[in-house]
Amino acid sequence: MMNNYRTIPYQPIRFSEEEMMLRARSFFELMQKRRSVRHFSERPVPQGILDYVLQTAGSAPSGANRQPWTFCLVTDAELKRRIRQAAEEEEYKAYHGGMPQEWLNDLSYLGTDWHKEFLETAPALIVVFRKPYDIDEQGQHKNYYVQESVGLACGFLLAAIQYCGLVALTHTPSPMNFLQGILQRAEWEKPYLLIPVGYPADDAEVPDIHRKNLSEIVTRFGP
Ligand SMILES: Cc1cc2nc3c(=O)[nH]c(=O)nc-3n(C[C@H](O)[C@H](O)[C@H](O)COP(=O)(O)O)c2cc1C
Repeated sequence: MMNNYRTIPYQPIRFSEEEMMLRARSFFELMQKRRSVRHFSERPVPQGILDYVLQTAGSAPSGANRQPWTFCLVTDAELKRRIRQAAEEEEYKAYHGGMPQEWLNDLSYLGTDWHKEFLETAPALIVVFRKPYDIDEQGQHKNYYVQESVGLACGFLLAAIQYCGLVALTHTPSPMNFLQGILQRAEWEKPYLLIPVGYPADDAEVPDIHRKNLSEIVTRFGP
C-alpha cells in the first residue's frame, strides 16, 4: 500500500457558545426561508457570485476526496433554449403516460407540468454531473460514494445560493441524458441535477408546503 499521508495544522474557527447559538439560529432561519422557485426574473447574476457559490459546492466532502463532480454553468441563451426544448420534450412524455398515477398525485400540490419556461428565463443553469470514474493519462480511476458526494456538493451549492440571496430550483427532467449530448460531456459524466439560478420574478409564488418539525425527524438516544 502507498503511504501518501501528509498533514497540515487544522485551523479551527472558534466562537463563544452564545455566539454559536446565535449563528445556529440565524442560519436555520435563513435556510428555513429557502424555497424551490419556478418563476425567475431575467436579471443577470454577476459572474463572481456564481463562481463563489460553485467553489462552495466544490468544498464539500467526498469519498476518498475524489470530488467526483462537474458543474456546467450555462448562461448562453441558445444553449438554454436547447436545454428547455429537450427537457420539455421529455417532461411532456412523462406527464402524458410516463409517470405512474401515484407519482402524479404526489406532484399535484406543487402545480408542476411539462412547461419549463424557467429554463430560459433564469439567467444561469447549473447542470451538475456525477462521475463514477475519471479517465486520465494513467487510465480509468474509480470514484467512491459518488451519489452521496455529489448530493452533498449540491446541498452546499443550494445553501450558498440561499446565503447570498439568490434562488434556485432542484430540477430533474426525466430522463436527462440529453444534457450529456447538449453540453458535450464525456461518456463517463452522468447528469445529476439541473439547477436554474437567479432572482425570483416579482410576482413569483411558491406552493404552500409543510415541513416536518424537529420531533418528527429526530430520534434521540441519550439524556
Ligand atoms: C432530488 C430532487 C428532485 C427534484 N425534482 C424536481 C423537478 O424535476 N421539478 C420541480 O419542479 N421540482 C423538483 N424538486 C423540488 C421539490 O419539489 C421541492 O424541493 C419540494 O417540493 C420542497 O419544496 P422546497 O424546495 O420549496 O422546500 C426536486 C427536489 C429534489 C430534492
